[in-house]
Amino acid sequence: MLSEYVLEMRNITKTFPGVKALDDVTLKVRHGTVHSLMGENGAGKSTLMKCLFGIYGLDSGEIILEGEKVSFAGPVDALRSHVSMVHQELNQVLDRNIMENVWLGRFPMKGLFVDHQKMYQDTKEIFDDLQIPVDPRAKTGSLQVAQRQMVEIAKAVSYDSKVIVMDEPTSSLTENEVEHLFHIIGRLRERGVSIIYISHKMEEILRISDDVTVMRDGRWVATKPKEELTSEKIIQMMVGRELKERYPKRDTKSGEVILKVENLSSLTPAFKDVNFELRKGEILGISGLVGAGRTEVLETMFGIRAKGSGTITFRGKTVENKTPQEAMKNGFAMLTEERRQNGIFADLSVSFNCIIANLDIYKKHGLLNNALIDKEVQETIEKIHVKTSSPKEKIGNLSGGNQQKVILGRWLLTNPEILLLDEPTRGIDVGAKYEIYQLMNELVAEGKSIIMVSSEMPELFGVCDRIMVMSNGHFSGIFDAKEVTQYQIMEASAKFI
Ligand SMILES: Nc1ncnc2c1ncn2[C@@H]1O[C@H](COP(=O)(O)OP(=O)(O)OP(=O)(O)O)[C@@H](O)[C@H]1O
Ligand SMILES: [Mg+2]
Repeated sequence: MLSEYVLEMRNITKTFPGVKALDDVTLKVRHGTVHSLMGENGAGKSTLMKCLFGIYGLDSGEIILEGEKVSFAGPVDALRSHVSMVHQELNQVLDRNIMENVWLGRFPMKGLFVDHQKMYQDTKEIFDDLQIPVDPRAKTGSLQVAQRQMVEIAKAVSYDSKVIVMDEPTSSLTENEVEHLFHIIGRLRERGVSIIYISHKMEEILRISDDVTVMRDGRWVATKPKEELTSEKIIQMMVGRELKERYPKRDTKSGEVILKVENLSSLTPAFKDVNFELRKGEILGISGLVGAGRTEVLETMFGIRAKGSGTITFRGKTVENKTPQEAMKNGFAMLTEERRQNGIFADLSVSFNCIIANLDIYKKHGLLNNALIDKEVQETIEKIHVKTSSPKEKIGNLSGGNQQKVILGRWLLTNPEILLLDEPTRGIDVGAKYEIYQLMNELVAEGKSIIMVSSEMPELFGVCDRIMVMSNGHFSGIFDAKEVTQYQIMEASAKFI
């Protein structure tokens, strides 16, 4: 008799030097379901999937696919057995066209030649079926991230995949793109494909899952059908205690105006004539739809992008911030949105990744003051609760969320007056989010000021004093966070569209 489960991972244990990443974990995925995997940063979700694909060997445990024991030698091997992974870091050959990427290594042949016509037809058929609006002949490099991700899904389908793993697939998608992805997931599910879905976004999980498995500290906590769950219940299982409030309280009041941005425009058409003030000890949120120009404003203030016109006045003096170095000297720090791609030296230590923005102050007579470095890195790791076996661990070995925390720590060590945070809690679990909000509160209590771009409306309401809204490159309003409604923010977001 056919088992109820398409895939079973039984009693999986995996140890790295100094860390028990997985401890007797069991995951059972039913046919044709969306099975979400949740857990705090470092809980072991990605490691479990890497064990499935044979990227890591198991210490013990077994993997059963459709009733048969399997052990994959790697992702390509797994793909041939109809188990595939849609990567966050997409590894496609950019200067090949899309259909070649889909059929790479198994081109249809006509005699001695590749049968391009058949390759086109086969690709088109899958794209049409999944409603992927992309020309199979286009160059892969010309596609947006979301489209490339869809091509990866199509590739999984072309291998007749029974299980498709998606590890934080929506982290860099716009709202429309997320909708489209969910639509595709729905179609796959109807065809009997099972999806293992990893995400920190509670709303998504509750919307698309059939079953949810929660992990904590490398261990299985529970597997439950979605109907039995609420976000509170999931959070409680994830953090092992009740988290009563999602946002810590703050009673400090912001002080005098410390920063003025007047008629700021980018050199490119990204945004025009943005005006606002920031107070000492204030958290100012920037809301808006993806593409509204929010990131670009921060990047211009920090010297990553060239300014077209306008002035920035900090403590009564005009600052140019032509380069990030100059901005840092002026007391600015910026946490970028694409930190996973840009901010990390994957092969180097947590410690190095922590101090790199700040090397100068650790130099004495041309030598590095290692004792000071060790002390400050240790303090930072504790302050923001980075989960690592040692400061000497390669940062690439940390979980995604913990890598992000290290980058945040890096900027805190530069002791900035103005922090520009672009989506600071993206990819970070609920417990760690709370800690980051707390940290932000501590910073403003010390008199620092924060500007935070966020696409999560509840977060903006939960932590900001005021919320500025941008729409299509224009400033479209600034509101007191205690008085404004979500509706008003949405309205302002659409004002210039
Ligand atoms: N190659 C490795 N070497 C050493 N330790 C590792 C390695 N890969 C993972 N770990 C450790 O295993 C643990 C689980 O990490 P994993 O990446 O699976 O977490 P995760 O649940 O995916 O978290 P996140 O939500 O942050 O992505 C972490 O403590 C991590 O540091
Ligand atoms: Mg992960």
